[in-house]
Amino acid sequence: MPTIYIDNKPYEVREGPNLLHTCLDLGFDIPYFCWHPAMHSVGACRLCAVKQFRDENDSRGRIIMSCMTPVTDNLRISIDDPEVKAFRAGIIELLMLNHPHDCPVCDEGGECHLQDMTLMTGHVYRRSRFKKRTYRNQNLGPFLNHEMNRCIHCYRCVRFYRDYAGGRDLEAYASHRHVYFGRHEDGVLQNVFSGNLAEICPTGVFTDKTFKRHFVRMWDLQTAPSVCIHCGLGCNIIPGERDGTLRRIRNRYNEEVNGYFLCDRGRFGYEFVNHPRRTREPFMSEKARKTAGFIGNIVTKDAITSYLAHLLHFGGRVIGIGSPRASLEANYALRTLVGPEHFFSGMSETESDLISVITAILRSGPASSASLRDVARADAILVLGEDVTNTAPMMALALRQAVRNRCMEMVKNLGIPDWNDAFVRIVMQEEKGPLFIATADSTGIDDLAERTLRAAPDDIARLGFAVARAIGPDAPQPSGIDDALRSLADTIAEALKNAKHPLIVCGTSCGNKSLIHAAANIAWGLCESGKTASIAFTMPECNSMGLGLMEAGSIKKAFESAAAEKAETVIILENDLYRRAEKDHVDRFLDSVTNIVVIDSFTNRTTERADAILPAGTFAESSGTLVNSEGRAQHFFKVFLPEGTIEEGWQWLRGMLSIAQKPEGESWKTVYDIAAGLAKESDIFSPVPNAAPPPEFRETGQKVPRQSHRFSGRTAMEANKTMHEPPPADDPDSPLSFSMEGYSGMPPGALLPRYWYPAWNSVQSLSKFQIEAGGTLRNGNPGKRLIEPAGGKGISFFDDVPDGFIPDGSKWLFVPSYHIFGSGELSSMAPAIAGLSPKPYLALNEDDASRLGLKNGSNARIMLGEKEYFLTVRTSSALPDGVAGLPAGMPPFEGVALPCRGSIAKSEVTR
Ligand code: SF4
Ligand code: SF4
Ligand code: FES
Repeated sequence: MPTIYIDNKPYEVREGPNLLHTCLDLGFDIPYFCWHPAMHSVGACRLCAVKQFRDENDSRGRIIMSCMTPVTDNLRISIDDPEVKAFRAGIIELLMLNHPHDCPVCDEGGECHLQDMTLMTGHVYRRSRFKKRTYRNQNLGPFLNHEMNRCIHCYRCVRFYRDYAGGRDLEAYASHRHVYFGRHEDGVLQNVFSGNLAEICPTGVFTDKTFKRHFVRMWDLQTAPSVCIHCGLGCNIIPGERDGTLRRIRNRYNEEVNGYFLCDRGRFGYEFVNHPRRTREPFMSEKARKTAGFIGNIVTKDAITSYLAHLLHFGGRVIGIGSPRASLEANYALRTLVGPEHFFSGMSETESDLISVITAILRSGPASSASLRDVARADAILVLGEDVTNTAPMMALALRQAVRNRCMEMVKNLGIPDWNDAFVRIVMQEEKGPLFIATADSTGIDDLAERTLRAAPDDIARLGFAVARAIGPDAPQPSGIDDALRSLADTIAEALKNAKHPLIVCGTSCGNKSLIHAAANIAWGLCESGKTASIAFTMPECNSMGLGLMEAGSIKKAFESAAAEKAETVIILENDLYRRAEKDHVDRFLDSVTNIVVIDSFTNRTTERADAILPAGTFAESSGTLVNSEGRAQHFFKVFLPEGTIEEGWQWLRGMLSIAQKPEGESWKTVYDIAAGLAKESDIFSPVPNAAPPPEFRETGQKVPRQSHRFSGRTAMEANKTMHEPPPADDPDSPLSFSMEGYSGMPPGALLPRYWYPAWNSVQSLSKFQIEAGGTLRNGNPGKRLIEPAGGKGISFFDDVPDGFIPDGSKWLFVPSYHIFGSGELSSMAPAIAGLSPKPYLALNEDDASRLGLKNGSNARIMLGEKEYFLTVRTSSALPDGVAGLPAGMPPFEGVALPCRGSIAKSEVTR
């Protein structure tokens, strides 16, 4: 370990990181702008200056940039040298020459890195009396506000957007003394990670436009650690609330999951929480009122209770339909209420089937389930069937980093440190490590791929089986593979075999079981040959994996069960059944049930059929556990208390358990008790209670406050209701309090409600919470993995190789096409996301379209079974012959099981 001297004191430090990184890890405050722990150094801003001395006799020294300096043994530096301090203050003074002094009206004010750095360097007095340089701002779409006058030209934005996230439409434009960071013209930023600019930019140039509509200062937000619910990856988030409105989402660092970043669906999809469609009061139909003997106008909790009592005591057979968007605890509470034999997952038949195959593969096979960090570390990757930019967006960002790993070896061999980003990118140029993508249509990361294959899902599966066979002789040999496909399979197999960390990405979005089997065969073949291969399976929803591990029957099984034996009552938990199955099937099922009770947080087609609606808290008003696609159980905490009669899903169910006189109704005091009950009942869930500290956990005898110590207006907030300041609400479910008082140090990682450190008010304070910048949180990374690979003994390869796809002009294969903005049920209610959702369309390749007499923009009529749809044609150069794409998860295709077969014809009408 090298020893370095900082202001004459020796420190033993780690070899590898640069000097700035090392000094921050040691706890020194060196100001910086352009360095970022995930994007490393380019030496652009000149703020991180320190003085370096040749040896102990050198009293003059020279000013160096610490972010561009490697750490070597006996390095002697000074951070406090007067000359270097003046230099840093001078840099800030230069940057501030043109920076408007508009902190009071700037959205960044109070969490601004420029404010912090200005104070840290001691630049306090403005000497310049000249006019400031000004710019025209751009409209960059619904997510980000642009205020270019605040720019300090650190280049972080373009480095993130272009180099890190692969965006192409944000650039640095220069003319004379103007350098401009924006688009070539006004317009929506095209990269789906654009929202990160709000955290990357150290000043207020890029700020959250959705937050602007209901802005409050960051110290006035009540925040809690939470988990994104908009896809299966479970990125960690910090939602902020004020006055009962969810105001914004910020990144919550988790080294194993999302690191420093979020996708735009995760960041801007939150406004469904404030949507007018929210259920805020209980509802009872005329029939339910009559059953309960209720005659009032406003449905009270008592009326609901007596209705539920009637159903649970005299209502005959009760079945429960759970949900992959509800917590483990809520699902388990429903299962306990109705009994495991009457509990159904609420997932579609295909989804349920595929997820049980995936969980079996991960639990019984030797390949490990990859975390997002593992994905970013892979050095040869095969993507089978997944358009990850749209189904698991942050995985696309991780893959973009992964393709650099192979080339990074070359860079290291040249003696270039990996943190020297400018140099690394010059050496690397456009070189990329092996990534192969096989999907039905083009994807957002095709630019990274060494080879792509566009094929029907069955043909992609056949490629997968051929790759597995080329890796291991025990895997089945697919028959009828042509030379081109075999050669591609051999190339992929070779790349995976030569890798240190080979990775297979697959998932549920193609609805194809053989594809998943093929992915397992490849990974298992690699394991058998001695490699540590991993698989990253994507999942459609935030708790699909958790529900899969509960092993409940699909929605189809629920329908069959109700048809076989009359169900008098169905309790539906946070699930719009019309998104899971064909409308006719759902209608028939709901018609067959006498009483329909729905617990949900917003109205939908299922609540329209309900006899009783019990208003449920969203993720922001609830606590519980979600299991992400990796198999990591992560706890989310309520950010604010639901208002009025809204209760968390599990609380409604606990109430029903009490009404049904089941012991859990009394013994489950907190959500944690339910997690403990689940863990006791099932081994796979035994780590769940340890995913976060229990409610009794205290630091120095105190709870962790959800409100910052600067939280303002507390005494006035309730003044319209009472002149007395009410005591903070209790939260028996967690070690967090709804207060500004409490433990203000560093709580365990899973309990971090915000990042703040003395003199570090911006998100850059995060490095103070890490053991080393960009590394593990000081008090542990949040979450617990539930699935670890089994030993490699006795692998039994799958052999369900499908037949090759044969295009048939009278029977088209319709495959789902996913959209980050539009396919998500909840995010689609957020105005910013809804505005970017596509209109319904039919995607066809140009040849197929012209064979049908269609072209881009024509009207087409498609028939799926008995159902007729009129759509606008969107031509794609990538789709294979005989395959057509339909937008998944959005009207009118919610509930339509894709892929499926159907016909296409030209039409003069659009509907
Ligand atoms: S816009 Fe922000 S991130 Fe980009 S150069 Fe300016 S200050 Fe830096
Ligand atoms: S990748 Fe998924 S979990 Fe992560 S922020 Fe985006 S939608 Fe949320
Ligand atoms: S942080 Fe070192 S030059 Fe910018």
